[in-house]
Amino acid sequence: MKIVCLLGSPRSNGNSAIVAKRFCDTAEKLGATVQTFTLNKLNYRGCQACMACKTKLDKCALQDDLTEVLDSVREADVLVIATPTYYGDVSSQLKGFIDRTYSYLVPDFHTKSNPSRLSPGKKLVFIQAQGQADATKYADVFPRNGAFFKWYGFADKYLIRACGVRNLGEVEGREEVMKLAEETAKRIMS
Ligand SMILES: Cc1cc2nc3c(=O)[nH]c(=O)nc-3n(C[C@H](O)[C@H](O)[C@H](O)COP(=O)(O)O)c2cc1C
Repeated sequence: MKIVCLLGSPRSNGNSAIVAKRFCDTAEKLGATVQTFTLNKLNYRGCQACMACKTKLDKCALQDDLTEVLDSVREADVLVIATPTYYGDVSSQLKGFIDRTYSYLVPDFHTKSNPSRLSPGKKLVFIQAQGQADATKYADVFPRNGAFFKWYGFADKYLIRACGVRNLGEVEGREEVMKLAEETAKRIMS
């Protein structure tokens, strides 16, 4: 089982990264291989809408640090996306990646029954940290962003949310969240 983990926070030891680490460590102990990318440390641009991936290439034409990330996700069985909530959405670091996944779509994807260039059956684990304690707030972030991954053939999606965590490392004291990270890893690896 190959897991690719994308850390979307500029805080490499932030709350979303801590939860992602617990998930990945648990899965690794159960035999998974894990490749982690800290998006904030990479240099890349957002989608340039050049349409090369729809007209002459089957991948993104941009050559930058996201090239390896996009290739790795193609090979992954599980994609872990960990993000802080910034202004009610994913971080800009993560949004840049999501826009570049446009290259996973075939030409005329709007009319194709299988619009994806990725092999089917991948799983998505979405980890979201937010300062707001009320879980009804920003509950739309996962369904809105996760919906696009269904296009790419991600069959199962799992959500792990940490609400009411603001300071660095605060989530470590949130046993229920850390436990859910472990349980989700065990479930996926079983
Ligand atoms: C620029 C910025 C914007 C933020 N916007 C929100 C927000 O809209 N809603 C919220 O609940 N928390 C917001 N927060 C708080 C973070 O989501 C919270 O601190 C979270 O734990 C950060 O995750 P991280 O430790 O993985 O970076 C914001 C923090 C920053 C720095």
